[in-house]
Amino acid sequence: MTPFLLPILACPDCGAPLAAEAGGLRCPAGHGAPDFAVEGGIPRLLPAGLRPPREARTVAAFERQWRRYGGLRRIFGKDPAAMTANLTGARLSARVDQAWYAGRRVLDAGCGHGRYLPAFAALGAEVVGLDIGRGPELAGAPTDDPRIALVQGSVLAPPFRPESFDLVFSDGVIHHTPDAGAAYAALARLVKPGGALYVWVYPREGRLREAVFGLARAITTRLPGPIVRALCFALAPLTVFVRSYSGTTFGRATWAECAQVVHDWLAPPLQSHHSHAEVAGWAAAAGLGAIEQLPIPTGVTAWRPLRAQREPQGLSG
Ligand SMILES: C[S@@+](CC[C@H](N)C(=O)[O-])C[C@H]1O[C@@H](n2cnc3c(N)ncnc32)[C@H](O)[C@@H]1O
Ligand SMILES: [Zn+2]
Repeated sequence: MTPFLLPILACPDCGAPLAAEAGGLRCPAGHGAPDFAVEGGIPRLLPAGLRPPREARTVAAFERQWRRYGGLRRIFGKDPAAMTANLTGARLSARVDQAWYAGRRVLDAGCGHGRYLPAFAALGAEVVGLDIGRGPELAGAPTDDPRIALVQGSVLAPPFRPESFDLVFSDGVIHHTPDAGAAYAALARLVKPGGALYVWVYPREGRLREAVFGLARAITTRLPGPIVRALCFALAPLTVFVRSYSGTTFGRATWAECAQVVHDWLAPPLQSHHSHAEVAGWAAAAGLGAIEQLPIPTGVTAWRPLRAQREPQGLSG
């Protein structure tokens, strides 16, 4: 297990610090029955009981996605250079440039196939990739870099101590949970004073697109995995007519790159759509400020204020 991880891990069920035991991680209250496993160097810190069946089917849909498409050079339209460009300046925060990352700790919450992990590490940060499924491993996410750690767990009960990260980054994830607002609040608690939370969620679209996709998804999310995968492959040309958020368009991207985007739309049973005002409201409710609206409208970066300095106490009281 990556050395920097243990001091920031916590039990997903009660939040207690975990102790390393032979082959596992022990919660003092006995959660994890008897210990949480560490397999392949990856702590398995899922909270007790996913809420079946839609959550379990969502996990399976993403595992299929990363098993099939993890090897693509461009995921959601981005090659490695574009991913690095997404992590500084106006796309993430006007306050974050390349130098900002040196010595910082980042959580990629819902890291999927792990496409951003090498980019964060190359910028000089320690980065933890958290995902509810085994997608990062299935896609071959790097595990031999001492600055990169993987953890299996949920953004709804993230297995970390509060205020552990300078940046929590969650791109296209919390709308795939049963409660996006609760996931936002849980991630906000992990941000250090002076640190930031970046979240992008699927935007709420016009009535026609919402209705058509709602109907389509009522069918596609119930189909067996191999059939939905074949269907998404066949529907890849749809990206000519239906705008994808990443700009992935049939003709300009490969067939497989477009199919991966269509799979993301049509396969996961859990998917909610939100407005900028909603995300900004979650940020304010979590006590974050300096809310930045990004060029992608439902992308929001918000900052945890530094704690006010306490007045020095006089000796005379
Ligand atoms: C659309 S993908 C985005 C992946 C990655 N952030 C990216 O930009 O490439 C959504 C990811 O969120 C993960 N996910 C869904 N629900 C989750 C949860 N409750 N906790 C952690 N990860 C979750 C899925 O397994 C999937 O890999
Ligand atoms: Zn516990």
